[in-house]
Amino acid sequence: MTTPADKAAHPSSGRGKIDRSRLVTLLAQEDDLFASNHKRSQEFFERAKKSLHGGVPMNWMIKWASPFPLFVEEGSGGYFTCVDGHQYLDLCLGDTGAMTGHAPQASVDAIVERIKHGTTFMLPTEDAIFVAEELAARFALPYWQTALTATDANRFVIRLCRQITGRQYILVHNWCYHGSVDETFATILPSGEVGPRRSNIGPPVNPRETTRVVEFNDLKALEDALKDKKVACVLAEPVMTNIGIIHPDPGYHEALRDMTKKYGTLLILDETHTICTGPGGYTKAFNLQPDFLTIGKPIASGLPASAYGFTQKVADMIAMHTTLSDCDTGGIGGTLAGNALALAAMRATLQNVLTQTAYDKTIPLASRFKAGVQAVIDQYHLPWIVKQLGCRVEYWFRPEAPRNGSEAAAVEDHELDRYMHLYALNRGVLMTPFHNMALIAPSVTESDIDKHSLIFRQAVESLIA
Ligand SMILES: Cc1ncc(COP(=O)(O)O)c(C=O)c1O
Repeated sequence: MTTPADKAAHPSSGRGKIDRSRLVTLLAQEDDLFASNHKRSQEFFERAKKSLHGGVPMNWMIKWASPFPLFVEEGSGGYFTCVDGHQYLDLCLGDTGAMTGHAPQASVDAIVERIKHGTTFMLPTEDAIFVAEELAARFALPYWQTALTATDANRFVIRLCRQITGRQYILVHNWCYHGSVDETFATILPSGEVGPRRSNIGPPVNPRETTRVVEFNDLKALEDALKDKKVACVLAEPVMTNIGIIHPDPGYHEALRDMTKKYGTLLILDETHTICTGPGGYTKAFNLQPDFLTIGKPIASGLPASAYGFTQKVADMIAMHTTLSDCDTGGIGGTLAGNALALAAMRATLQNVLTQTAYDKTIPLASRFKAGVQAVIDQYHLPWIVKQLGCRVEYWFRPEAPRNGSEAAAVEDHELDRYMHLYALNRGVLMTPFHNMALIAPSVTESDIDKHSLIFRQAVESLIA
């Protein structure tokens, strides 16, 4: 373990210091190495640029550490192969969409079987009941609806909260991410006011009209924002994950629940990423009691599907506000939402893939990953930390755990991130592009994790002054 005294003793001693000019030179070398090993991906990218804006089918696919994206041939379990024939250990897993591992057999079988018998009817199948019963058992919320993405689930739930409370605002944590939901792209500006977050594309209105924003773990700000009783709902991840893993302070969730109840605000917990904690997410593991819960990404083994659940009390209030004649034009739903294919995939995933057995395997592997990274940090007295949430692990270029989104955002180091990612990629390991995050799939082995630890060590050694 590195003690605070150690850290204080070493910052200027040369140990633990990253050589920034060497970083620039090495990054250029890694770019060249990547280009020389991925001729086919490069050819595809050049071709793609003529018909796909930016050369990719979705704009974020450009946000990788490599000079151009890998084109994928196939994936299986925790691995995938690119079109140049290189195999990778996948620690990104589609940023949680493939947390089940790629193409898990039970889901593939169910999906193939369902496709043969029709995929979308705008009528329910029995799989829908199984899925709702299973989600109810996992998250202790009795009623469920489905959508196609976690973004949609959050959008729909926000609408419901506004409708049943008759209130204008929602509240989110600064630097949160809940999908491309207009109300959530809000931040606390330097003036202290709420405004659009950097790069918010064409906001329909200034989000200060829809949203209040407080820092995670700031109970005073939370109470100040709720006490005029104008906030319909708090939308929160139980542990922040999208600006890096930020755990709640002890007692934060109890206070959040008490305060939301006191001021008549509904509480939505978004488990889309925190499902990495266990089969019932962080909510089950810590016995949280939200009014609504949303989840998407891995629950259909990578097919588009999401779900939202709610309490009996909420169900009664929704029923009071819904009319049969207008239920298809209220802004909630979707032609393909609840389709038979997505529900067959969700059933197979919940029944056979995202099981306790899977977590029993992946969480210890994540701890092994953490220990491997920590050993290097300790040995080189780096002012870095590594954090874990279930089967999700992440290292940070800062000496202490941040308590909120602003503290976390303040230490972004784009160049160093890019080097660590590209160095790993060139040696067969894909990290998540958004920060230094690794997610572990059930088929991954201890030797895969040790391979990452070795690569991490070599990357650090190449940079130490
Ligand atoms: C916590 C959380 N909620 C919702 C979403 C939106 O998911 P999707 O892009 O699949 O709609 C994300 C995406 O990263 C997320 O991290």
